Amino acid sequence: MPLNPPIEDWRGRVVWVVGASSGIGRATASRLHGLGAVVVVSARNQAALDAFVAEHPGSQAMTLEVGDRAAMARTMEKVHGLHGRLDLAVYCAGHYQSMRASEFDLGQMLLHLQVNYVGALHMLEVVLPALIKQRSGHISLVASVAGYRGLPQALAYGPTKAALQHLADALFLDLRPLGIGVSVVNPGFVSTPLTAGNDFEMPALLTPQQAANHIVQGWGKGRFEIDFPKRFSLWMRFMRLLPNNLYFATVRRATGA
Ligand SMILES: NC(=O)c1ccc[n+]([C@@H]2O[C@H](COP(=O)([O-])OP(=O)(O)OC[C@H]3O[C@@H](n4cnc5c(N)ncnc54)[C@H](OP(=O)(O)O)[C@@H]3O)[C@@H](O)[C@H]2O)c1
Repeated sequence: MPLNPPIEDWRGRVVWVVGASSGIGRATASRLHGLGAVVVVSARNQAALDAFVAEHPGSQAMTLEVGDRAAMARTMEKVHGLHGRLDLAVYCAGHYQSMRASEFDLGQMLLHLQVNYVGALHMLEVVLPALIKQRSGHISLVASVAGYRGLPQALAYGPTKAALQHLADALFLDLRPLGIGVSVVNPGFVSTPLTAGNDFEMPALLTPQQAANHIVQGWGKGRFEIDFPKRFSLWMRFMRLLPNNLYFATVRRATGA
């Protein structure tokens, strides 16, 4: 029994993807456009969004900075004004810089919090009233397997993804009875600008298009948690169940931390 209403027919569905100028968000927006959705793409990079629109006729670009609460509200007003409804809001904006405790940088910690978590709250503030009024629609938050438990290099990034996962749980409990779907997307490694600076071998690395396929399939099956690729994410999910001493020893052994 699926936890969410499966979304199988995308024709005419109004979709807003925040963080769609590159990587996973762009590939997902492109896939949904191909399936017939009416796609609105947001991020800061106007030129990249314009290029998306040129390649995907009928889609719309609305630039925004996710830390700007008023800009998020204005964008939602535009989406609603143009289409009169919203069927799916995806929060895919993200920032990642590796950090260890010995290089603690408060500015970077707060920037991760702002882009990865506070921006999602700004989106929720404007999307929730509309979806609750409609009594339909779906909210999807892109977190990461890095949110399951602490990992080396992920001192700034990991906690923001754990927060998104927790947020999605609570949203699901409150919104499903109102007819609104909620999902949390937990990708493994995907080759995007975000991971381009990683100086270690990324296991089970996917292309953004492969990630988009997994995500769209997950929505189609009505899944709450969309984690992939399974050969990596199931291992990470299992690690979460280990007692602390075994978890820390296994991570140290696997990463050399
Ligand atoms: N790649 C991976 O291995 C991986 C794994 C797990 C989870 N994820 C998550 O997947 C999501 C997408 O990441 P990606 O890998 O596809 O990286 P990406 O290509 O760098 O995409 C990040 C997106 O976020 C937008 N963004 C960043 N800061 C923003 C801001 N202040 N305001 C508005 N938009 C902003 C970027 O657009 P602009 O720069 O144009 O604003 C871009 O569209 C992120 O949440 C990331 O944490 C990625």
